[in-house]
Amino acid sequence: MNNKQLSIFFDKLKQVVEDKELIKLVLSNKSDKLSDLKSIIATIVKLKAGYRLNIVYRHNTKDITKNYPFEEGLVIINEMFINNFLNGEIIANTENVILTTNPKGKVKLSIKEPTLQPLTTFNHDNTKDRLIETKQNIYLRELGVTNANWEVRHQMSDKYKQINRYIELISPEIKELGNPADLQIVDMGSGKGYLTFALYDYLHNNLENKIKFTGVEFREDLVNLCNSIAQKAEFKDLNFITGTIEKAVIDKIDVLIALHACDTATDEAIYRGINSDASLIVCAPCCHKQIRKEFNVTNELRHVVKYGILKERQAEIITDSLRALILEAYGYKTKVFEFISTEHTPKNVMIVGRKTDSNNPDKENIMETIQAIKKIYGIEQHYLEKLLNI
Ligand SMILES: C[S@@+](CC[C@H](N)C(=O)[O-])C[C@H]1O[C@@H](n2cnc3c(N)ncnc32)[C@H](O)[C@@H]1O
Repeated sequence: MNNKQLSIFFDKLKQVVEDKELIKLVLSNKSDKLSDLKSIIATIVKLKAGYRLNIVYRHNTKDITKNYPFEEGLVIINEMFINNFLNGEIIANTENVILTTNPKGKVKLSIKEPTLQPLTTFNHDNTKDRLIETKQNIYLRELGVTNANWEVRHQMSDKYKQINRYIELISPEIKELGNPADLQIVDMGSGKGYLTFALYDYLHNNLENKIKFTGVEFREDLVNLCNSIAQKAEFKDLNFITGTIEKAVIDKIDVLIALHACDTATDEAIYRGINSDASLIVCAPCCHKQIRKEFNVTNELRHVVKYGILKERQAEIITDSLRALILEAYGYKTKVFEFISTEHTPKNVMIVGRKTDSNNPDKENIMETIQAIKKIYGIEQHYLEKLLNI
C-alpha cells in the first residue's frame, strides 16, 4: 500500500477518534480471500469507564466485539488494515475518508463531504425525550434495536417505545424503595433481555443505584447471548442464569419482575416474590390458559362465556383479578393498569404489588372474596393458590 496515502488515512482516523467525531470506520475487501474474517467495524462507545473504541470483528458465521481505549484500538485498526484489508472507510461528522486498493494494487484516497447525520442529533423523532438513549448504547445495538449508526430500526420502534415505557413505570416504583445497599432485582423469564438491560442501564448509570440484577431464563442460548452482551456493555452487576422461575437458586429477591411470562409462569413468579418477601412485585401477564380451561359456568354468565373471544377476555380478567387479590391478601398494596396502548401490544396489563404489611388484617375477608368469585365461574383452584398451598 502507498505509505503516504495510508498515513493520511490513519492521521484522519486518529483525529476523528480523538475529537469523538467518528460515526463509523469500516475495513473491508479482505486481502486473503480464504480468511474467515470478512470485515471490521469500529465505533465510539461511552462506557462507565469512559469512551472506548468498540471493534466488531465480522467473521463468516459470528461477530466478535471488543472495547479498547482509543490508543490501543487505533494501533489494532492500523495493523488490521495493513495486514488484512484492501479498503477502509471513515464516516465521520466532519467528512468521509475512503481508501481503496484496486486488483493491480493501485491505492486511491478520496475525501468527501459527510453523508451521515452527526451523532449529536437524532434522525428519527421516536428517540426524542426517551429515558433510554440510543447513541453509543451497546446493548441496544447488539439486541438489534438500533443499527450501526445508533438509530432505532424501523421494525423495532414499538419495542423501543415499550422498553422506555417500562422504565418510565418501573423506575419510580424502585426509587420509592430508597437506595438500600445491595438491592437485588430479579427478572423472571428474561428472554432476550430487552427490559433487563434497559432497567439495569437506567438504574445503574443514570440514577447510580447500587443494584445487583439477575435475569432467569430456561433457554440456555438466550442466557449465553445476554451474558455476552452484558460483558460487551461492561454491565458488571448484571448476570443471567439458566433455570426455571420456580426453582432457580437465588439468595435474595427485593424486586421481582416478570414481563410476559407465559400462562402460569406469571404465577410462579408471583409465588417466588411472595415467598421471598420481595418489597416489590411487577408483572405483565401473558396468556391465561389455566383459568380458561377451569371455567365451569352454570349460572347466567354461561351465556357470556359461550363466545370464544369473550371467554378468553373473561379468563384474562378473572386470572389477573385473583392474582391481584392474592397479592393483597399477602400484604401487597396492589395496582392493575394498562401500561401501553393496545396498538403497540395487546399484552398490556401490568400488576404492581408493593409490600406494606406482612400480616394483612383483612386477609380472611379477601380469601372469602376469592372463593366467591371462583364459585361464580366454577373454578376449582387458581394455580397461584396451589403454589402457595392455600
Ligand atoms: C414472551 S418471553 C418474554 C421475555 C421478556 N420478559 C420480555 O418481556 O421481553 C417469555 C420468556 O420466558 C421464558 N420462560 C417461560 N416460562 C419460564 C419458566 N418457567 N422458567 C424460566 N423461563 C421461562 C421463555 O423461554 C421466554 O424467553
